[in-house]
Amino acid sequence: MTRNSVAEHTSIHGLWATRSIFILAATGSAIGLGSIWKFPYITGMHGGGAFVLVYLACVLLVGVPVMMAEILMGRRGRASPVNAMQKLVQESAVSRRWVLIGWLGTVAAFLILSFYAMIAGWALDYTVLSAQGAFDGISAAGTLAAFAELKLSPYTMLLWHSVFMVMTIYVVARGVQNGLARAVRWLMPLLFLLLFVLLGYAFTTGHFMQGVHFLFDVDFSQFGRDTFLVALGQVFFTLSLGMASMMAYGAYMPQQQSIAQSAVIIVMLDTIFSLIAGLMIFPIVFSWGLEPAQGPGLMFVTLPLAFGNLPFGVLFGTLFFALVVVAAWLSAIALAEPFVAWAVEKGMRRPTAAALVGVASWALGIFSILSFNTLSGDEFRIYGKTFYEAIDFLSSNILLPIGGILIAVFVGWTMKETKVMKELAIKNQVLYIAWRIAIRVVAPLAILAVFLDFFGVFGA
Ligand code: PHE
Repeated sequence: MTRNSVAEHTSIHGLWATRSIFILAATGSAIGLGSIWKFPYITGMHGGGAFVLVYLACVLLVGVPVMMAEILMGRRGRASPVNAMQKLVQESAVSRRWVLIGWLGTVAAFLILSFYAMIAGWALDYTVLSAQGAFDGISAAGTLAAFAELKLSPYTMLLWHSVFMVMTIYVVARGVQNGLARAVRWLMPLLFLLLFVLLGYAFTTGHFMQGVHFLFDVDFSQFGRDTFLVALGQVFFTLSLGMASMMAYGAYMPQQQSIAQSAVIIVMLDTIFSLIAGLMIFPIVFSWGLEPAQGPGLMFVTLPLAFGNLPFGVLFGTLFFALVVVAAWLSAIALAEPFVAWAVEKGMRRPTAAALVGVASWALGIFSILSFNTLSGDEFRIYGKTFYEAIDFLSSNILLPIGGILIAVFVGWTMKETKVMKELAIKNQVLYIAWRIAIRVVAPLAILAVFLDFFGVFGA
């Protein structure tokens, strides 16, 4: 068979029609709640510039190499992560146990989807509330009360959780060409447009430079072990690594496209987006004399307050939450795809598979919703965590790092190097060796450090 033969270089789900569609889809997966909601709040909690510097180092040393490894595995396997792993295992004649990588990622993505839809649902609710002018002229006590009220309203949460899940499943059911690619083609330009409009708005708040200093002035006294560990965890989440999504999307990537170049572009776009999200949020926070170290409430508590009291806040507040919804939508599609693709390969029709995965994840998400109200009591806790906290912890802090280490070890040490080199096709020897060292040594050790830290191995 020739190198370009269709049989070898396609998947039963089809391929992304062009190189740029693959890049847009993978970037759409990466940019999500992780960039807009999480990055600013953890940067705020870790002192700004020092954290950003460590974060950028982790992006470069671990994010880029692991992203390349995942895309490479997907494209070589040309199937859902589970079946791609079957193929890679046969090809390199190694233990079938490695297929576990595919399952770990697929299950982690499925679990994350269940609560990701809930949080995206909050953003949907806030989009509508903003548009209705509910935050117009609101006080600090008012936004706190509004957020608390939402968490105590299971039916409101359920409504938006359901709406968001239907949006996600609708796209996934339509397949790679008519669903995923089309959504990406329309929504990615919209996403960047919204971002720049909001950035322009942040300029007008008069505190823009304060935001710039907060993000980019490195205060060495803020460095700590914690800074590094939190930064690496964020790199994995925001770049959609360790969760099979990049593998699934890589399976549909055109054969001629450069993996290294694509990975660098995707990572750069996600990083720029996160930084701009910070540049947009912090000036607003400072213009109100608010605390940057708010924690997870930063987006839902302080921003309505800020928008509610700035000129044209109704319009821009609505645009802001719409931006969050769009970004989360494209990420949620990527979270559902690994499982759906696997079911389709098992012989199921795509719409049926998408509906089943969607309903199962939706149902699981109901427990996360109830864990803020009906089921918040001690008797419903798992090791002191509510259901939502436990699922988040299991997927983000346990499955994700295990998946990350296994991926790095598999590509770095287990897969036949000739196959790896053929797929990567990097001409520059120095770059190839740098990648090889990163994937064999730097990435596994760095992830291991993060993982062990969660179990207090390094002390409190
Ligand atoms: N990267 C997404 C975000 O930052 C989350 C995500 C993880 C999406 C894994 C797909 C797969 O919100």
